[in-house]
Amino acid sequence: MSADIIDGKAFAANLRSRVADLVPAFRAAAGRAPGLAVVLVGEDPASQVYVRSKHKATIEAGMESFEHRLPETATQDELLALVRQLNADDSVDGILVQLPLPNGIDENLVISTIDPDKDVDGFHVTNAGRLAVGQHGYVPCTPLGCLMLLRDRLGNLSGLDAVVIGRSNIVGKPMAQLLLAESCTVTIAHSRTKDLPAVVRRADIVVAAVGRAEMVKADWIKPGATVIDVGINRVPGAEPGKTKLVGDVDYAGAAEIAGAITPVPGGVGPMTIAVLLRNTLVAAHHRAGVALAADAI
Ligand code: GUN
Repeated sequence: MSADIIDGKAFAANLRSRVADLVPAFRAAAGRAPGLAVVLVGEDPASQVYVRSKHKATIEAGMESFEHRLPETATQDELLALVRQLNADDSVDGILVQLPLPNGIDENLVISTIDPDKDVDGFHVTNAGRLAVGQHGYVPCTPLGCLMLLRDRLGNLSGLDAVVIGRSNIVGKPMAQLLLAESCTVTIAHSRTKDLPAVVRRADIVVAAVGRAEMVKADWIKPGATVIDVGINRVPGAEPGKTKLVGDVDYAGAAEIAGAITPVPGGVGPMTIAVLLRNTLVAAHHRAGVALAADAI
């Protein structure tokens, strides 16, 4: 194996501790802690795990965590009423409605009801628009975490060829916008892309966010490229009845050729919550009118 392993777990732990270090000064200036509200509708097991770890991480950072759980049977109107209540609550700086929502609830309507200045997920069209035109706003946590790892590894990204595989609103599109803002030459590839291997072979930076286990093969990777694997796919493990997590990239093969690569697990995954806390800290400063140095976090 020749590639350096990009340790997202360690980077995320460091980011979380830098966020936590900035909380006491905010508390002193604002007279309260930064507050994050997380809303979970229904009993989806994966979502329950995510919400629990967000709650724990928020408390560990010295912030206030407001958890709201609604039953699977909750109506859209009930959820919208809760979001409006959180919009109006001054102790809440960030609002996250855990996705996916149960059938019958219009996700776009729920997201568009969140105050854009509390939208620490960066999913509101106002924040997507701010990102597209280069204004201050909230950027979705996973792609922002990927960018932090890339900057840490590569420094200046200007002029590099970047290929983002996947065009979701949560990862692919904002990732492409972020890389464009770094002056990369950006290609967004997807399921209809012609000759995807040839497209990926041009890339200095590959961000794989398709949700298909080990789809990106080793011989698609340009020697020395930096590979960021956003995929988290559960597949059958070596022993019968056991499963394991793999990314969207054939890790073992790609690690022979890439210059650096994120593992799964322990790469991009831990970055999402760390960036969520970072976005919440930034939102708290903005809302309370407390200065935060641009390069503080
Ligand atoms: N479900 C899976 N990932 C996320 C995320 O980053 N934010 C929200 N709100 N829901 C999710």
